[in-house]
Amino acid sequence: MNSQGRPTDAGEATPVLRETFTGNRGLQIEEALIFETGREDATGVDIDEPASFASRLGDHARTSPIGLPGLTEPETIRHYVRLSRNNYSIDGGIYPLGSCTMKHNPRLNEKLARLPGFADVHPLQPISTAQGALALIHALAGNLLTMTGMSAVAMSPKAGAHGELCGMMAIKAAIAARGEGATRNVVLVPESAHGTNPATAALIGFSVRAVPAGETGIVSAAAVRAALGPDVAAIMLTNPNTCGLFEREIVDIAEALHEAGAYFYCDGANFNAIVGKTRPGDLGVDAMHINLHKTFSTPHGGGGPGAGPVVLSERLAPFAPVPYVVESGGRFDLVEHKGESQSFGRMTAFHGQMGMFVRALAFILSHGADGLRQASEDAVLTANYVRVVMGDLMSAPFGDRPCMHEALFDDHWLKEAGLTTLDFAKAMIDEGYHPMTVYFPLVVHGAMLIEPTESESKASLDLFLMTLRDLAFSALRGEKERFQSAPSLAPRRRLDETRAARQPVLRWTKSAPLRVGEP
Ligand SMILES: Cc1ncc(COP(=O)(O)O)c(C=O)c1O
Repeated sequence: MNSQGRPTDAGEATPVLRETFTGNRGLQIEEALIFETGREDATGVDIDEPASFASRLGDHARTSPIGLPGLTEPETIRHYVRLSRNNYSIDGGIYPLGSCTMKHNPRLNEKLARLPGFADVHPLQPISTAQGALALIHALAGNLLTMTGMSAVAMSPKAGAHGELCGMMAIKAAIAARGEGATRNVVLVPESAHGTNPATAALIGFSVRAVPAGETGIVSAAAVRAALGPDVAAIMLTNPNTCGLFEREIVDIAEALHEAGAYFYCDGANFNAIVGKTRPGDLGVDAMHINLHKTFSTPHGGGGPGAGPVVLSERLAPFAPVPYVVESGGRFDLVEHKGESQSFGRMTAFHGQMGMFVRALAFILSHGADGLRQASEDAVLTANYVRVVMGDLMSAPFGDRPCMHEALFDDHWLKEAGLTTLDFAKAMIDEGYHPMTVYFPLVVHGAMLIEPTESESKASLDLFLMTLRDLAFSALRGEKERFQSAPSLAPRRRLDETRAARQPVLRWTKSAPLRVGEP
C-alpha cells in the first residue's frame, strides 16, 4: 500500500475514505458558494447611515431584499483565496495540455509589467505622455516581423481566435478590393483544424469546405489543389498542425493557393515550435496570428488575458486594421483613423493588451535570438522524449515518426483493457497531474495530445513519464478500478459529463440553511 492508500498490486483493496464532519479532506477545504455562507446583514465596509431623504422611486421601490450575500472582509478574502487554491497552474505543476501551450511565465516579466509607466498607462492619455508604451509596442511589433519575415503586424487582437478574425477580415477586404467579394466566398479548412478556424470563417460569412487530413496526419498539396476553385478565398491551415506535425507540403500548398488567386491564412498557435527555425513569410503565408500567451510566455488560461497579434504579407498589409504605431524622428504616434486607406477598420476600442506586450517583449529580449531558437528546440525535444518513452506502451496514430512540440497518442492500446481515454486522463488526476488534452484533434480516435512545456526539467519530465508508465502498465494489467473510479482523491469524483453539458445547472437556488449538528 503506498502513502495515499492506493494498492500497489492488484491483490490489495483500496480502503474506504472516511467522510469528515466538515466535508474537508485534510487541508483541502470544501468551499461553499458565497451565497451559501453570506448573510444579508454582514458587510466588509463601514458606511455612515445616509441622511434621510425623500425617495422619488414611488411604486418602483424594492419591497424585498436584493439577495446579495454579505461577508466581512476576512471572510471574503478567505473565500477567494481558497477558491484560487483550487486552480491548477503551470506554477504549481507540469501542465501537459496539448494545443494549449501552458508556458512558464518568468517572474522578470511580471516585474517589468508592474512598472507604473506600463501598468498604469491609460488608453486615452495624451500621446506625448505615453511615448514609452508606444515605443515598447513598436519594438515588439518589429521583433514579430523579424521572426516571421512578414511585412506588417496588427497588434490589437486580444487572443488567438480574435487574431484569426482580424486576419480573415483583412483577407475579406483584399478580396472585396479585387471586386471578387461576391464570388470568392469559400474557405478551406483541414479536418484536423482547431474549432476556432471554421468558426471564424463562418462568422464573417464564408462557407467552409473541409480538406481531408490524410493518413500521415498532414495536409497534402494534392488535396488542397482538388478543393481549390475560383470560389475559394483562402485556406486556414495550422502549422505545426494540431497533430503536432510540421506541414511538410506547406510551400507547395502556398503556391497552389496563390496560383488559384486565394490567400494563405496560417494559424500560428503553435509558433512556439518553430521560432528561430523557419519564418512563415518564407513559406508563403499571407496572414498568421501569434498567440503571445503560448509562444512568448505571458499568463495563459485562468492566469490572465491573452494577445493575438497578426502578421500580414505585403499583399495584405494595406488592409491591416487601425490603430497602429508609427515612428518618426524618435517620436511615436498612433494612426487611429483609416481615412482614405484600404484598412478594414478597427478590431477593438483601443490598442491591445499592454501587459501582454510588456511580458512578451521581456521574454524575447531576455532570451535573445539564440535563446528563442533553443526554446523551440527544447519544446520539440521534450515532446519527442515523451513520444519515445511512451511509444512502447501507447499507440501513436501516425506511426513512429518525430513530432514537433506535442506528442499525439490514440486509444487503440487501451481497447483490450476495456478502458477509454477519459478513464486514463481521470486517473492522472489522482496522481496529481493535470490531464493532457483529450479527444482532440477529432480526426484521431480517443486522442491524447501531450505538450510538455519546454521549461520542464528532465527530473520533472521523468517523474511525469514514470507516472504515465505506471498508469499504462496498470491499465494493461486490467486494473480497471483504478481508472473507472478515478478521480477518487480529488475534491469531486467523476462527473456525468454528458448530463453536465446537456442539463447544466446555471442558477443557484436557495435551500433551507443547515443547522449545526444536523446530519
Ligand atoms: C490551433 C489553435 N488555434 C487557435 C486557438 C485559439 O487561440 P486563443 O485560445 O488564444 O483564442 C488555439 C487555442 O487553443 C489553438 O490551439
